[in-house]
Amino acid sequence: MCGIFGYLGPKTNSLELVIKGLQKLEYRGYDSWGVATDLNGELFVDKKVGKISEAKLDNFKDKSSNIAIGHTRWATHGGVTDINAHPHFSSDKTIAVVHNGIIENYQEIREELGKENFITETDTEVIPQLIAKYRKDNSFKDAVFKAVQRLEGRYAIVVLNVGENYLIAARRGSPLIVGVGKDEYFLASDIPAFLEYTKDVNYLDDDEMVVVDGGVEFINLTTGKPVKKRLINIDWQAESAEKGEYDHYMLKEIMEQKETILRAINQDTDEIMHIAQMIKDSRGCFLSGCGTAGKVCMAGEYFFSIIANRHVNFAPSSEFPVYHHFLRPESLLIIVSQSGETADALEAMEAAKKKGCKVFSIVNVEGSTIARQSDFSLHIKAGPEKAVASTKAATSQMALLLLIATAMIGELQEGRRLLAEVASQINDMLNPRFLNYIKEVAEKIKDQENSYIIGKAENYPMALEAAIKIQEVSYVHAEGFAAGELKHGPIALVTEGTPCISLVANDEVKKDIINNTLELKARGAHIIGISPEKHDVFDDWIKVPDVGIASPLVNIIPTQLLAYYIAVLRGLDPDMPRNLAKSVTVK
Ligand code: M6R
Repeated sequence: MCGIFGYLGPKTNSLELVIKGLQKLEYRGYDSWGVATDLNGELFVDKKVGKISEAKLDNFKDKSSNIAIGHTRWATHGGVTDINAHPHFSSDKTIAVVHNGIIENYQEIREELGKENFITETDTEVIPQLIAKYRKDNSFKDAVFKAVQRLEGRYAIVVLNVGENYLIAARRGSPLIVGVGKDEYFLASDIPAFLEYTKDVNYLDDDEMVVVDGGVEFINLTTGKPVKKRLINIDWQAESAEKGEYDHYMLKEIMEQKETILRAINQDTDEIMHIAQMIKDSRGCFLSGCGTAGKVCMAGEYFFSIIANRHVNFAPSSEFPVYHHFLRPESLLIIVSQSGETADALEAMEAAKKKGCKVFSIVNVEGSTIARQSDFSLHIKAGPEKAVASTKAATSQMALLLLIATAMIGELQEGRRLLAEVASQINDMLNPRFLNYIKEVAEKIKDQENSYIIGKAENYPMALEAAIKIQEVSYVHAEGFAAGELKHGPIALVTEGTPCISLVANDEVKKDIINNTLELKARGAHIIGISPEKHDVFDDWIKVPDVGIASPLVNIIPTQLLAYYIAVLRGLDPDMPRNLAKSVTVK
């Protein structure tokens, strides 16, 4: 939900640097973009509808400045127009602001400041106008401090004041990270923006602001007092945030599953045992996440039930607060999130904390808000996931949940062995022949309007997840069902040639799902079977390794590839699906 970036340092091509950084944050929003700088005491702003990746760097070559801010937008308030793009600025053109989040009381502030002074439809414009108002009688720092006290909602902002060679940033609810280089500073929504310059970071917490000049000064927005922070070194490589030889991040990240599962299970044994014990000791354990992470949680429910004989309840994070009646201090909430910044997941945590519950999280972004606000957190180490469609994070999260389930019954070593075998099988499976075959299957179904996916037991959540993948990148209508549910209604949707994907594992429910697949076939469905074994009912068979209870980890991969190839064959960009953004930091 929007990427923001600010730079202050010795480099005088700050606009180019900010644009290049924003291009690395493009996954956060791609309907418009803009930059601002102080050009010899005058505010320079350039903003446009379109993708930041299409920005022409040459246009900024002659604009020399060592300070700049920029934004790549996923619109919330106000249409996608040049004028609604960020940065927004005060009427006197002294203050410019980039913002990620939503200001809930913007109408009220607009009224107060005089609606006629506003030139955009956005909530954000109130921020520079408010700062400019306070700036008349205050220093830049005090003006920002006073203005943010007035804001309700969620925000991460970076503010530039013409004539002052420093930047100020503040946050509540939306991510903001300070990259600390050699005599230079970066303020960004996510680390890849500045990874090529520094790996040393400070995370801004909620209700904090930072003044960036020749150093960094953190201030608590509630008390006004300084805050001390430890510099954290990030172990990501700059290349891991690039596409490399691949056409799209989505394909690159699908292929990275050759290694990511091994990294996910490479966890400290004591930590795994600690969380396994926390689950065992809890009275009422809940799993929660959104979208793909939510489907991972559902798979986790099956792992805990089948492997550890333990009932864990799943609720999508946006629904979780409704269940607060069931929470007590002995309850445990497990949050799964790739970004660690999803607003709904944070709200679920808040609901749990209000009832005194402990929160354990599984995240991919170390130091993210969810990680920091949890009592205990594990990091899946999948490396930056930039495609909007979550792929490698999902399989790594499932691997970790499965591992924890085995630890709960004292079989951690067996769990590790099984998952290492899964990783090795995935490595073999993801070869060029396999990819070509899936592309051929995608070619057959790419023009269909509807598709259905069925799964049973631990593969039922994967049917739901496969549907998300197909919907979000190829815009083909896709729905996942528990295989046994078809006959209770959805089968009426199937007509001659409707593509139906059946996720079959070599387990005790195999016969049942094959019967359900036959029911689809009898209504004319074109059956794509994803299974270790060939069954007569399949029109197309995608062979996957037989990995027992870990079958969701391998069955999901061909569906990721199918979604990818359908999108590409339909001429779409799978990395930038319409209406979506990678990190959903609004409720
Ligand atoms: O960063 P998170 O894992 O918390 O994100 C949750 C969902 O927004 C995310 O999984 C979303 O559903 C993906 N675009 C699906 O591919």
